[in-house]
Amino acid sequence: MPAIAQSACGKAILLGEHAVVHSQPAIAIPLSSKRITVRVEAQIVSPTGKIWVNSPVLGLNQDLGSLPEYHPLFQAVRLTLAELGVIQGPSCTLHISSTLPISSGLGSSASLAVATIRALSEFLGHPLDLDTVNRIAFECETYVHGKPSGIDNTVVTYEKPIFFQKDRGAEIIQPGKQFTFVLADSGVSKSTHQTVAGLARDLTDDFETIQPKLEQIGLLVIQGKQALLQGNTDSLADAINRNQALLSDLNLSCPELDLLIREAMRAGALAAKLTGGGRGGHMLALVEDDKIEPVLEALQKVLGSNPFFTIVKPGAEA
Ligand code: MEV
Repeated sequence: MPAIAQSACGKAILLGEHAVVHSQPAIAIPLSSKRITVRVEAQIVSPTGKIWVNSPVLGLNQDLGSLPEYHPLFQAVRLTLAELGVIQGPSCTLHISSTLPISSGLGSSASLAVATIRALSEFLGHPLDLDTVNRIAFECETYVHGKPSGIDNTVVTYEKPIFFQKDRGAEIIQPGKQFTFVLADSGVSKSTHQTVAGLARDLTDDFETIQPKLEQIGLLVIQGKQALLQGNTDSLADAINRNQALLSDLNLSCPELDLLIREAMRAGALAAKLTGGGRGGHMLALVEDDKIEPVLEALQKVLGSNPFFTIVKPGAEA
């Protein structure tokens, strides 16, 4: 059996994280240059069904069965085998490498699940279609994040900019022009499970205060969608900045993210906000092309932020 390698991209939420868990819309973009790759290699001499995981980047060199039940890798393998009706798994090693920062708001759990489902199903001779990959990856996400909206697995599976609303699914967005975003790491690793659960508690405790903020975020997402479609940079920048103010009000920012946002804006970004689960993870800034270098340079001075930029292309190219 030849070894099979498959990969999946990361993602960034442009607008609407957290509110999307509570049925508001959100917009996400794929990070096609930041990927997790899973290579499945047969191990003929191993006992039947023994799956070994080798991943320096995830700090794993162990039997798959020794991973906790909530691990996306464990669930991606279990659910893929169940989908294909395979009772006894193959004897193999999963080699996992990544150019995507792990556990930092860029969709690494969804990306790991999608890459694993793709690689393992192809290795077994039955590559799964995108809708099935997405459905299984969503199930994996529920083990990792508790109550995910489904936006992460969807944007990672289809690798297109999407306008997403729970129970309504995803619509692919074809932007009216090219947009550039710089991303940088706050260096703080915070569990999305915890921040999502925290906001759900706040919503229950103080519905009158929290719900209007979530609805305002929903309106900004609609503004952002129009701005993307029309190629209206000013309107998109306004939506991003106001979204950050609301996320900050909801106690989802942190001093390290606020510093990255200030530095990006000082260096000429048009707008900046946290992206993903918040209280850590990555910051995302909207920049004009002539400001990419100055913004990257300013952020490089913040130790460990490892800034990079990504482009959302216009129309069907996106
Ligand atoms: C995480 O990337 C985005 C959140 O909105 C959670 C979710 O949508 O499942 C915080």
